[in-house]
Amino acid sequence: MTAVELSEFVRERVRSAERVVVFSGAGVSRESGLDTFRGAGGLWERMRPEELATPQAFRADPEKVWQWYAWRYRRVAEALPNPAHHAIARLEAVFPSFIVMTQNVDSLHRRAGSRNLLELHGSLARVFCERCGRTRDMGEAVAESPSKPPACDCCGKFRPGVVWFGEALPEETFDQACEAAASCDLFLSVGTSATVYPAAGLIELAHRGGACLIEINPEPTPFSRLMDLRLAAPAGEALPALADALERCRWPTT
Ligand code: OAD
Repeated sequence: MTAVELSEFVRERVRSAERVVVFSGAGVSRESGLDTFRGAGGLWERMRPEELATPQAFRADPEKVWQWYAWRYRRVAEALPNPAHHAIARLEAVFPSFIVMTQNVDSLHRRAGSRNLLELHGSLARVFCERCGRTRDMGEAVAESPSKPPACDCCGKFRPGVVWFGEALPEETFDQACEAAASCDLFLSVGTSATVYPAAGLIELAHRGGACLIEINPEPTPFSRLMDLRLAAPAGEALPALADALERCRWPTT
């Protein structure tokens, strides 16, 4: 992508921004080779979320659900952060406060170097016992038991450490995300269809709080009309160009 041009309005908001939030979804990891959920080729086109990503599904067929998450874990373990993750990590040094809140469970923001990270939908990296709450590493659990959830010493069984449909988001994490979204100056929504709540409501909170809104997504979303800037391009191309533009704006002499 060629250089990103910021309007005078956006430039002014970027110059004075103290608190910046990045809200990301599956599209940010698309160029790392990981599937999105919706849209052409998305996981939910060929699989049914209610059979794989709900507590009821895990109760009804724990082996099927475990195998699906073991497959996703292996795909994620083989993937690498792409230029979008790296550009987001680089921006952490540019603003006084910078928080990444992601719906992704793939740890790629962390692996790219983002430190101030809120994982709204949990993480594929950990499993926990649904009975006693003990946690352990997903990689070890999958290696030990690739086709069924491993048993815990308490007689419960381990489940993936992700949030399923119908479950609450981790309370403290979501509270922090709401507070940060409502009080930020600049809000970047990257690679999300912005259709899954309550996470998608963070965009609304940022809008109501008066943040300057930027969206990076090849396709429009229900929130596109609220955006001050929309980059209709893949994140791996748009984010490095946008990060350059934001840096130029903050550090005009470099
Ligand atoms: P979706 O699959 O709903 O949306 C992915 C978005 O990424 C779409 O809007 C695409 O247009 C966009 N996209 C595709 N390729 C892109 C690229 N290269 N660069 C930028 N954007 C691109 O994913 P999420 O919005 O993350 O929840 O979905 C939210 C939640 O729904 C997920 O966390 C998951 C899912 O079901 C649970 O499993 C609970």
